[in-house]
Amino acid sequence: MSLVLGIESSCDDLGAALVRDGREILSSIVHRQDEVHAPFGGVVPELASRDHVEFVWGTVERSLERAGVGLDQVDAIGVTTGPGLIGSLLVGLCFAKALAYRAGRPLVGVHHLEGHIASARLEEDPIAFPFVGAVLSGGHSAFYRVDSLAEIELLGQTRDDAAGEVFDKVAKRLGLGYPGGREVDRVAAEGGASERAAIPFPRPLLNHGLDLSFSGLKTAVALEIARREGPDGKLSARDRVRICASFQEAVGDVVIAKSERALGETGLSRLAVVGGLAANRRLRERMAGFAERAGVSVRFPPVALCTDNAAMIAAVADGLWREGRRADLRLDAFSRAPLGGEK
Ligand code: KG4
Ligand code: ZN
Repeated sequence: MSLVLGIESSCDDLGAALVRDGREILSSIVHRQDEVHAPFGGVVPELASRDHVEFVWGTVERSLERAGVGLDQVDAIGVTTGPGLIGSLLVGLCFAKALAYRAGRPLVGVHHLEGHIASARLEEDPIAFPFVGAVLSGGHSAFYRVDSLAEIELLGQTRDDAAGEVFDKVAKRLGLGYPGGREVDRVAAEGGASERAAIPFPRPLLNHGLDLSFSGLKTAVALEIARREGPDGKLSARDRVRICASFQEAVGDVVIAKSERALGETGLSRLAVVGGLAANRRLRERMAGFAERAGVSVRFPPVALCTDNAAMIAAVADGLWREGRRADLRLDAFSRAPLGGEK
């Protein structure tokens, strides 16, 4: 039996979690910063790290309390070392180092995207290796071949913006507030088939390889909003729904086409969709349809584990710790940290 404390602070949310045997979540606390960044319509890095400093100890304490365990019962402490905002990462990392030193517990550094991939396995009946991992988050959009959590190969990635980033920017342009992805999801759900087909937004690189590109789509949405705005700079409620629903449909078409190609090229029949976008209701619904049509298995983490959390970090740390991986106090954080052959 093993018990791992995970700490995640790569961006705006701060997570602390206790996970048993790399699988069973005893507690997973996420301290969100939505209210800190909402007035700016996006994450302000300096404010993010300051908030982490204020809440890191309390969040870790709550996760221990919720799990009903003491630090002395923890076998290892896993912490995200990158990629992410360097100031945010350093808060979690320095805290984890101090805690590991004070408690005499081993420290394990975890790659944030490996964490997202592992989130697909935090279930009673986890997806079996090998599988294709579609990581669609606010900072990354990429497809990987996952043979184990230690053997991950990059198949294709975005050449410009991440999918979540575009959701956030569309939401900001529409004045929908922050965080944007969830808001676009909510507004799009007010529409039906006709709103989803209302605007033929581009499907970038649809028929080309496994790379992705979202910046052209972002521009197309911005132009369409400008075209439909009245002289008062306002959109009708119906147009807002049309924009959100049609945009979401374009992203979904791309994700489905690339998923199909990734499965075809690797000869695999299992796909895990992870990262903040995996929480999108329409994408979940459409991917389920694709799975049935293509005769493949498509899995999503529970919604709470799609966006950043520390349970996924603890799950990876558990495996690394079992392999004997131990970091010393020189463990560093990296804003850019390639995974699976990424440059
Ligand atoms: O994985 P994540 O929590 O953070 C990163 O590692 O970047 O992903 C956050 C991203 C944000 O861009 C957010 O707008 C998007 O995921 N997101 C969504 C939804 N919920 C969060 N995008 C679309 N639909 C959602 N329901
Ligand atoms: Zn993330």
